Amino acid sequence: MVFTKTGDTMHMNELIIKKRNGLAHTKAELKYIIDNYVKGDIPDYQMSAWLMAVYFQGMTDMETADLTMIMAESGEQIDLSPIPGIKVDKHSTGGVGDKTTFIIASIVAACGVPVAKMSGRGLGHTGGTIDKLESIPHVNVALDKENFFNIVKKVGVAVTGQSGNLAPADKLMYALRDVTGTVDSIPLIASSVMSKKLAAGSDAILLDVKVGSGAFMKTLDDAVQLAETMVAIGHHNGRQTVALITDMDRPLGQAIGNATEIAEVVEVLRGNGPEDLIHESITLAANMLYLGGKGAYEDCVTLAEGTLKSGRSFEKFVEMVKAQGGDATVLTEPAFAEAAYKKAVLAPKTGYITHMDAEACGRAALALGAGRYTKTDALDYKAGIWMLKKTGDAVEAGETIAYLQSGNESTLAEGETRYVNALTIEATPPVKRPLVFARVTADGTERYV
Ligand code: URA
Repeated sequence: MVFTKTGDTMHMNELIIKKRNGLAHTKAELKYIIDNYVKGDIPDYQMSAWLMAVYFQGMTDMETADLTMIMAESGEQIDLSPIPGIKVDKHSTGGVGDKTTFIIASIVAACGVPVAKMSGRGLGHTGGTIDKLESIPHVNVALDKENFFNIVKKVGVAVTGQSGNLAPADKLMYALRDVTGTVDSIPLIASSVMSKKLAAGSDAILLDVKVGSGAFMKTLDDAVQLAETMVAIGHHNGRQTVALITDMDRPLGQAIGNATEIAEVVEVLRGNGPEDLIHESITLAANMLYLGGKGAYEDCVTLAEGTLKSGRSFEKFVEMVKAQGGDATVLTEPAFAEAAYKKAVLAPKTGYITHMDAEACGRAALALGAGRYTKTDALDYKAGIWMLKKTGDAVEAGETIAYLQSGNESTLAEGETRYVNALTIEATPPVKRPLVFARVTADGTERYV
């Protein structure tokens, strides 16, 4: 059955049936769907049915590439050419405790590679870079274009919220996917991420594709497939693109929340902080430096490590916060990330933590006030979790394994139950998982396990 040759009148109900039956759309059909959805001429119920059909039937590489371009072209496309140098963007597919953007953007900018970063807010159990940045008093996360460009030119780095008109198709579709069980689909994630990256205008893109219990991709094979799809889209559109597959089977670092995560960023930038976060940040920063033309990958690792140790990346972070109107003096004050109420979580038994359900840890932080249940919820910036023991660590019954904090005492009980239930404690230690599983470039996939 052929419904829509080019030139035929298209009808959304026929296009839904076509995808439901497993057929591939033409570019004209995809354009009809996206453009009319953005205009409000296709209702949410039909778009939801189509998204579910895509979820079950998938898309060809050609359909995914076409969909991405149509979504990128649905709004403003930023021209970063007035900013000199190779502009490198970075995107994470979303995780718990993932505050690497601030660390790597500071390192990379301190090495002279400009970073013009547009980021999003938290979604579901995953934290949002913009929410974390906003925990610093007075910081402006809604920079207008002129200010954004000027800060990147002067300081080398700026982090701002996404302009309302950047890939508006994605904004609408993501909100619908979030409530219709259609987020974790490879063509839908790939087109969502890459449409924003293409529209944001950087020359090169580093993708951090998370895999594990706290990620949308639960298996390594799915994560590799998603990474390969996104790298191919970037490459076909003339953007050098590299993806790293990194672990999200436990939260990253020791802090989950907003101010708590910024406090941990400051710790790392001042030469301290947890090993997993440092290692992952150096790996990501080195890949960004490589994309920014700073030499062979091994040399970029040395450069990233040296810059972090020198303290120049902390100075760069402070410079960025000040340029965005923020009060950087609070960053080194303990009170910055201290909430009114604090509760110790005690190990329920002796053994080893063999697994942390990262999504459940994120939901514990959400219950404390660190995230939103509805779009309009106000955040408690100081709410969050400090994890003292993580996967692989030995624990004694009754020992403090984490601290929960919140501005609302009544949230602590739910936070505690959720956090304790997220942990598995067993008699023998678990097999160690790597932090970085694979690196995907246009030349192929290098698996480290
Ligand atoms: N991040 C995005 O930007 N889009 C998705 O679909 C999933 C993660």
